[in-house]
Amino acid sequence: MPITITVRKNGSLGINAEDAAQIVLVDHEGNVIPPRAEGRPMSLCRCGASKVKPYCDGAHKEAGFCDPLDAVAPTDTTPAQG
Ligand code: FES
Repeated sequence: MPITITVRKNGSLGINAEDAAQIVLVDHEGNVIPPRAEGRPMSLCRCGASKVKPYCDGAHKEAGFCDPLDAVAPTDTTPAQG
């Protein structure tokens, strides 16, 4: 089963894998960032309000983070930079 990344409406990025060891989160220098909670699905902040970045701590609710848009296919085919 593939690793699944879910863009949660008005919330975090949920990352699920059958085996949590398949997911390794690293910083910009390649250093491993330890999981916030063993055995739980990984949830990454995309609102910027979390106090435990890069993980979500639920602060998006108080921050009023709103991303009501459904996923859309990118129209720009230029490779993303860093
Ligand atoms: S997405 Fe949850 S705290 Fe930012």
